[in-house]
Amino acid sequence: MKRYLLILTAVVLCLAAACNKPSVEQEEEFAEDYILIGFSQLGAESDWRSANTESMKSTFTAANGYELIFEDGQQKQSNQITAIRTFIQQEVDYIVLAPVTETGWDTVLQEAKDAGIPVIIVDRMVDVDDETLFTSWVGSNFELEGKKVTEWLHRYTEACGIQPEEINIVNIQGTIGASAQIGRTKALADAAKEHGWNLLAEMTGDFTQAKGREVMEYLLDGYDNINVVYCENDHEALGAIEAIEAAGKTVGPDIANGEIMVLAFDGINDEAVAYLKEGKITCIAECNPLHGPRVKAIIDQLEAGRVPGKLNFVEEGFSSADTTVSSLVIDGQVYGVTLVEKTEPVAEPEVPESEQE
Ligand code: AHR
Repeated sequence: MKRYLLILTAVVLCLAAACNKPSVEQEEEFAEDYILIGFSQLGAESDWRSANTESMKSTFTAANGYELIFEDGQQKQSNQITAIRTFIQQEVDYIVLAPVTETGWDTVLQEAKDAGIPVIIVDRMVDVDDETLFTSWVGSNFELEGKKVTEWLHRYTEACGIQPEEINIVNIQGTIGASAQIGRTKALADAAKEHGWNLLAEMTGDFTQAKGREVMEYLLDGYDNINVVYCENDHEALGAIEAIEAAGKTVGPDIANGEIMVLAFDGINDEAVAYLKEGKITCIAECNPLHGPRVKAIIDQLEAGRVPGKLNFVEEGFSSADTTVSSLVIDGQVYGVTLVEKTEPVAEPEVPESEQE
């Protein structure tokens, strides 16, 4: 009796499975409903980049009706070009490119255009002769971010009675040729010229903490009068602080009394945000990485047959724990300074004598 019951159950289960299996036509229809996106991300150099990748992956999910092919370029433009060519062969519906640097994209974007695949550029910009090679771009105004930082420094030093010729700055730059580096470096160079600050040196820290520390150590060896460090992202600021403290110096806004002021961009890394509250990083110009929904909005418009804006700038904030400057005026526009609540530095736990080496 038991044996007959088992056979009967197996037959019923097989029949049910056969009924649920989608037909070839149903499967094709299902696949046609999906929007296939090839995303070439430039790398994974920072927390900003990880947040950007996560924003794209959590937006373009199967549940939302997308299939996302993700390729990490590992900081190499050649890898990104190969990824785009593969996306073209895979006949994706859209290509999304977060380019490592601005130049060198004309040929491969022409190939995508010839294949009839719209290309959306995200975060950094591309510098191409023919603007029709990409459909739309969304990202930050990197030069404006830099202008916010330099205007804050100008207003702060004026308020504290510090003369321009007493300001000795070093710039730890981002990846050379990336829009984020180009815009932020330009803002500093222009402001130094305008106000008469000493821009002692510019060196790349590749947007990483390890390189930021290495570069800062080198700069501290070369210059004994540095009082401002302009770091083109959170991680470089963390590396610079490590080097400054290891050299026995103090970071902070009180440059009139020997502190070294650290200025930064992003505001994504938790430690950098904690340092902002403690005053170890004096101010941070926000760089917002959450572009997934913004790219989706562009694709939604294209799917609906509308023409999205060509250049889409994201609005960003500016934060400091120092109360000296409450707003910034740049090119006639007023930007607020968000005052973050000041916190005391977390004290290092004391090691009992018996446990000391
Ligand atoms: O292009 C944006 C920049 O790239 C961010 O400021 C930096 O942290 C990232 O690596």
